Amino acid sequence: MDLAKIPSSEAAETIPMLMEAGLVNRSAKISKSGSWRLIPIIEDAAPKIRELGYEVVEGEAHSRARTPPQGRIKSALSNLSDDVLSSLPMKWEYVGNIVIIKHFPGMEAHEKDIGEAYARELGAKTVCVDMSGVSGELRIPDMKVIYGTETEAVRRENGILYRFDVTKVMFSSGNIDERERMAKLDCTGEFVVDMFAGIGYFTLPLAKFANPDRVISIEKNLDSFEYLSSNVDENGVADIVTPVLGDNRNMHTGELADRVIMGYVQKTREFIPYALRIIKPGGVIHYHDTFYVKGHEEEIRKVFEETLGDRKFEILGIREVKSFAPSVSHYVADVRVF
Ligand SMILES: C[S@@+](CC[C@H](N)C(=O)[O-])C[C@H]1O[C@@H](n2cnc3c(N)ncnc32)[C@H](O)[C@@H]1O
Repeated sequence: MDLAKIPSSEAAETIPMLMEAGLVNRSAKISKSGSWRLIPIIEDAAPKIRELGYEVVEGEAHSRARTPPQGRIKSALSNLSDDVLSSLPMKWEYVGNIVIIKHFPGMEAHEKDIGEAYARELGAKTVCVDMSGVSGELRIPDMKVIYGTETEAVRRENGILYRFDVTKVMFSSGNIDERERMAKLDCTGEFVVDMFAGIGYFTLPLAKFANPDRVISIEKNLDSFEYLSSNVDENGVADIVTPVLGDNRNMHTGELADRVIMGYVQKTREFIPYALRIIKPGGVIHYHDTFYVKGHEEEIRKVFEETLGDRKFEILGIREVKSFAPSVSHYVADVRVF
């Protein structure tokens, strides 16, 4: 069996990340060898593990003749009522070694036990409850910590480190393909503006791997801006990226941009006039927004027909980023503006 060889000092961060990426063979046991952890990985995962900078070795792993974590969580909490047991979240999100579960009505009375059970069975240092998703212009999460105290997470993804506090700043794990796509663009020599930079979701992969000349990354939420700035440093792209704290409606970039990223949904259209002020003729806008799946292409075209005035445009491509609600998806359109 293929085993990923991870230094024990990195195990606490890396194992949850590999699990989250679906690379770990959960039917086999993780073992220790000197200062290494040997993590059984699924078939075909070896190239990804090597890409992350870890060695893959051949070896044996004992079968984990154990109940899956969902079953273990339920049995650890079997003293709770059937109603509560049937409402326990059987899916969760790992961010580094923090586990996030969704709130359900009636959990408050048992949250201490629930927090302990999820932490123990999932090997998490902190358990948070996502009470109501993110809200407001600054996309602030509504998280309640029910186990542990440490809320700063480190997520390593495709060669980028994202550090952020899960209680202060949003992170959409579902946007992973789009983050990866930003890394694969060819932005050689370009000046790029990220209008909704967050903690660097798109700025970081683009700056590190797509070879731009310069990136200005604007963020209005102070907590996000502080993480954006430290993530820029930690990822070694401080010579390319300038984080700016402020509202993108007031931005003055000095020169016109080759590419503008509009990574925001639901009100993105209102910001098109501000993107038009800074995009070069022939530049590309990555326009994110949610649309009904049925008819989304026509709707996206309509948005640009109605907002571009005299400027012409060409839709280069449209991708679904993730499902957003029943019949609604988050899309990104690459639009060349002349
Ligand atoms: C939805 S989040 C970014 C999501 C990200 N694209 C992802 O993949 O997860 C949008 C960010 O834009 C910031 N923001 C909202 N309005 C803004 C504005 N007018 N100027 C600058 N930043 C803004 C919010 O604070 C938030 O951090």
